[in-house]
Amino acid sequence: MEFHVDKYERYWLNMVIVVLAIFFASLVAGIAIFGVRPPVAAGFINPLEIDESEFANPGVRHMGGNRYEAYIIAQKWNFVPSQITIPEGAELTINITSRDVTHGFMIEHKNANIEVIPGHIGRVRVTFDKAGEYHYLCHEFCGQLHHAMWGKITVEEASAVTAKE
Ligand code: CUA
Repeated sequence: MEFHVDKYERYWLNMVIVVLAIFFASLVAGIAIFGVRPPVAAGFINPLEIDESEFANPGVRHMGGNRYEAYIIAQKWNFVPSQITIPEGAELTINITSRDVTHGFMIEHKNANIEVIPGHIGRVRVTFDKAGEYHYLCHEFCGQLHHAMWGKITVEEASAVTAKE
């Protein structure tokens, strides 16, 4: 007995293979060409002990050279700090955690996107080659004032930074 596959059935079976091949190719291209990396789960933290942890003084620290580190707390309904200033060319490592419920964190025009889960520390590294303003915002619905939950990274031109020093 010969196995009969209808013409259109064969067509759609082939389409499934093509679509899967496209998905797989874009996954590989994302990793190999566009450098997409999932944010690292950097560790655990007791949300009740945030104020006794490395998040006790949220903000940016200069780690030498062009390296900067930020500690950010997400909470209903803001980020602490909500303003960050770094110089052009800075390589910023962001550590973020939540004090209460699940929030989100993403930076516009950058490959930074974290689900901020209480009890977890999220970490992502972003390089800012161009001066300007970059907003970060909560993209995980977290209640009444979710839409008001955002902050701003100001990247200063190299000349402006030198002038201040
Ligand atoms: Cu925090 Cu939405």
